Amino acid sequence: MAFLDGHKKIETNATLLLVLSLGVVTIGGIVEIAPLFYLDNTIEEVEGMRPYSPLELTGREIYIREGCYVCHSQMIRPMRDEVERYGHYSLAAESMYDHPFQWGSKRTGPDLARVGGRYSDEWHVDHFSDPQSVVPESVMPSYGYLAETEIEPGYIADLMSTHRIVGVPYTDEMIEQAAYDFVEQATDFGDDAVAERYPGAQVRDFDGNPAVTEMDALIAYMQMLGTLVDFSTFTPDESR
Ligand code: HEC
Repeated sequence: MAFLDGHKKIETNATLLLVLSLGVVTIGGIVEIAPLFYLDNTIEEVEGMRPYSPLELTGREIYIREGCYVCHSQMIRPMRDEVERYGHYSLAAESMYDHPFQWGSKRTGPDLARVGGRYSDEWHVDHFSDPQSVVPESVMPSYGYLAETEIEPGYIADLMSTHRIVGVPYTDEMIEQAAYDFVEQATDFGDDAVAERYPGAQVRDFDGNPAVTEMDALIAYMQMLGTLVDFSTFTPDESR
């Protein structure tokens, strides 16, 4: 057959095979990739999402520094067992301000995408200080030293400016007030500024110690995870 003869020509000529394969891959690539350049955004916008407050962002840095992602994921897959255990499956928008994202790839411990509000602050202090005191069979290491490590907001404005470079919409005001907001969120002077700038931010002394410690920042981060989007009113945008 003429068609098969043509095929033989290609298969026996390495250069021709290479050139034609390249052509096919290029066409396929353009068809898949080109439309993305014409979309403003591939993430569905979801009400409630906002950038991390200075204290939460610091807690997130501690999470990364301590390697929590090695044992914990932050992505609930849309499968029944996961949704029943952890709550609504994760939305792309929920990690839109995460640089780098913390989806993780291993669950030695449970998924943390919606751990916010599941336990009290005291539970977290006890658990981080000595995980086996609350969950005897736990293999999680202890992080008690976080409660003794006081933190200063010295670098927080720089960190937020860096996040702004990669697209997080921090305003000039947020960056100017970063050091104040950082201390206020963990101390609660009774000023509404943090909650106004970061709707839904929880303001209190998280670790029960008046000093601002790494424990405050980490618990502030834990307690906000998965709490920004209100899933009692959320409906996926089907038009996209
Ligand atoms: C060696 C693996 C390991 C590392 C590292 C680790 N964890 Fe865990 N974590 C676990 C395991 C296992 C559990 C389940 C038992 C328990 O509650 O202690 C757990 C439980 C938790 C829980 C309770 C979750 C729930 O829904 O019950 C939180 C919160 C948590 N870890 C946060 C952290 C944070 C924050 C870090 C980093 C500072 C961290 N973990 C580091 C293994 C780990």
